[in-house]
Amino acid sequence: MPAKLPTEALLEAARWAPSLYNTQPWRFRPTADAWEVRWDPECELPVADPQRVALMMNLGAVIEYLAVAASAHGLDVQFTPPDFRGTQPNLGFIVGKLLFVERTGEPSPLLPFLASRQTSRKPYRTEPLPPGVLDELQAAAASAGCWLYHTTDRAAIATIAAEAARGTMAQFGEPERYAEFYRWLRPLSAADGLDIPSLDLAGPWGSLWKSVLPPSRMTRLKLAQWALASQQRALIQSTPAVCMLATNSREWKGWVQAGRALSRVWLHAARHGLVTHPTPSALYTPAGRELVHERLGVEGDFLVSCLFRLGESLPAPRSGRLEAESLLF
Ligand SMILES: Cc1cc2nc3c(=O)[nH]c(=O)nc-3n(C[C@H](O)[C@H](O)[C@H](O)COP(=O)(O)O)c2cc1C
Repeated sequence: MPAKLPTEALLEAARWAPSLYNTQPWRFRPTADAWEVRWDPECELPVADPQRVALMMNLGAVIEYLAVAASAHGLDVQFTPPDFRGTQPNLGFIVGKLLFVERTGEPSPLLPFLASRQTSRKPYRTEPLPPGVLDELQAAAASAGCWLYHTTDRAAIATIAAEAARGTMAQFGEPERYAEFYRWLRPLSAADGLDIPSLDLAGPWGSLWKSVLPPSRMTRLKLAQWALASQQRALIQSTPAVCMLATNSREWKGWVQAGRALSRVWLHAARHGLVTHPTPSALYTPAGRELVHERLGVEGDFLVSCLFRLGESLPAPRSGRLEAESLLF
């Protein structure tokens, strides 16, 4: 058992993990050699994430961050889920325990990128990616038991971009979905949620979005939906690579593992100065899913995945983060 856990360093690393809508749902209770992990029910997204798949992926993402940070202190992290007897983990919102055990070997090479990895919704440089990067990312996903599909083919990317625009239109036209998204919109930089600068909205709405496009208007304003959909399409179309991380797991522990894989892949991307931007709207309809899977060469029936574009962007604003002490319960 390690003499004393580097609690401050671990909490600091946890702050920078990625999460859908930047909800940062993870909460921890540190004990002598282990941390109990749960999520804040206020951070659930019942419309966008009714099965809690993304929630579990968010928790996996933070566990991967903790594992990388712990490696700098000669520690490995073991995740032990509680016994839910096959049910979904909603009993008191406890997801499990993180055991910290001594490790030998060098700190993880991903350590310097915990705080610099980021999502960028800006346009990416169109030049091809450095050779070998996609293979490295694929190996990173495989090391966490997941698959990473990718394409750099311009025609395939154009098809995915068009599908993403269709999916975006449909999603913004759904009152409940948009209302939930709107609740996590923050006008300026804030400790959580999606701040307007990091969304990089072009066009006349820009920073005014929060005030001019409340749910009552947005779901009726086809022009606004179309403008946002066109922006998505243009962003994806000019991107050098589109990737999809997938797991064939149908249970929550597998989704936690997929979250670990996702942040491992994104940290490897950051190592090469690359950023990512999830664009799942292309998978919104069954027909869209089929088309995207076909263009990416996906074999098999992957119900859980994260589709994202990958590239090098202009400097993009960082999303806000909760203070370390807010992550304790
Ligand atoms: C499971 C998962 C799903 C995500 N889905 C989206 C998405 O659909 N659209 C998007 O723009 N960002 C998405 N993101 C990125 C988050 O919004 C981002 O991680 C968060 O705002 C924090 O910003 P950062 O990644 O720059 O640290 C997703 C992240 C995760 C972990």
